[in-house]
Amino acid sequence: MAERIILEEKSYKTVCREGNILIKSFVPSHPKSNVYNEAYIHSCVEEAGIPVPKIISVTPSEDGGFAIAMEFIEGKTLQQMMAETPEKTDEYLERFVDIQLEVGAHRTPKLRNTRYKMIDIINGLTEIDASTRYELLQRIHGMKRHTKLCHGDFVPSNVIIRDDGSYCVIDWAHATSGNAGADAAITYLRFTLEDPELADKYLRLFCRKADMAIQYIQTWMPIVAAAELPRYKGAERELLEQWISVAEYQ
Ligand SMILES: Nc1ncnc2c1ncn2[C@@H]1O[C@H](COP(=O)(O)OP(=O)(O)O)[C@@H](O)[C@H]1O
Ligand SMILES: [Mg+2]
Repeated sequence: MAERIILEEKSYKTVCREGNILIKSFVPSHPKSNVYNEAYIHSCVEEAGIPVPKIISVTPSEDGGFAIAMEFIEGKTLQQMMAETPEKTDEYLERFVDIQLEVGAHRTPKLRNTRYKMIDIINGLTEIDASTRYELLQRIHGMKRHTKLCHGDFVPSNVIIRDDGSYCVIDWAHATSGNAGADAAITYLRFTLEDPELADKYLRLFCRKADMAIQYIQTWMPIVAAAELPRYKGAERELLEQWISVAEYQ
């Protein structure tokens, strides 16, 4: 049997490699429906012809949780590449944006619509007042309805580049069908929390390559910050709250 190598451990899951198989094991308290939903979304994206690791199975683990098994992709994530060769960050960022645009050009109507997912999250937020929630929901209703594939967590650690230069996108738990501008706003938010300078570079590059107005992405920012709020704590959460507050007086 192949040796088990742990690649990443979080409170609710462990990612490990066993030979040419990648196993994402979730703790028993992580809802079974979330595990199946992640595998379902990933399978839809795989069937749409996007380069992703092939899903092999969803199986119960000995501890009572569930695990997703998929193909292990040999290569390096763009995050690893940026860390190892910082002088090539601009080149890698270009590749990153090109891949985001290529992925976002696909339609995946089977996936949940971004706007409905965001509306549900915002309606359920107890930490922001009713007037702000109202403003945010109005803002969503004012947006055009698109059905483009949105990864929902498009960051350099979720893009693997193989030795031959081809790519594979992983971590599809948050994917929806909706507006490319919303997906770019999520990426910009994640970059801002890690490296604000790189975040601005990303935003300018994305807008140029997508021929999209920066103001359009900015319109999404308070909505995206609200929808992402439950995932953050402390100083990061305060930053998200500042983004949300823009919706109150615009
Ligand atoms: N199929 C795969 N093949 C190779 N490496 C993978 C694969 N899936 C995940 N990884 C590695 O494990 C890391 C974490 O997996 P990921 O699915 O992104 O979970 P999360 O970011 O939610 O912890 C990735 O950044 C990548 O380095
Ligand atoms: Mg990831």
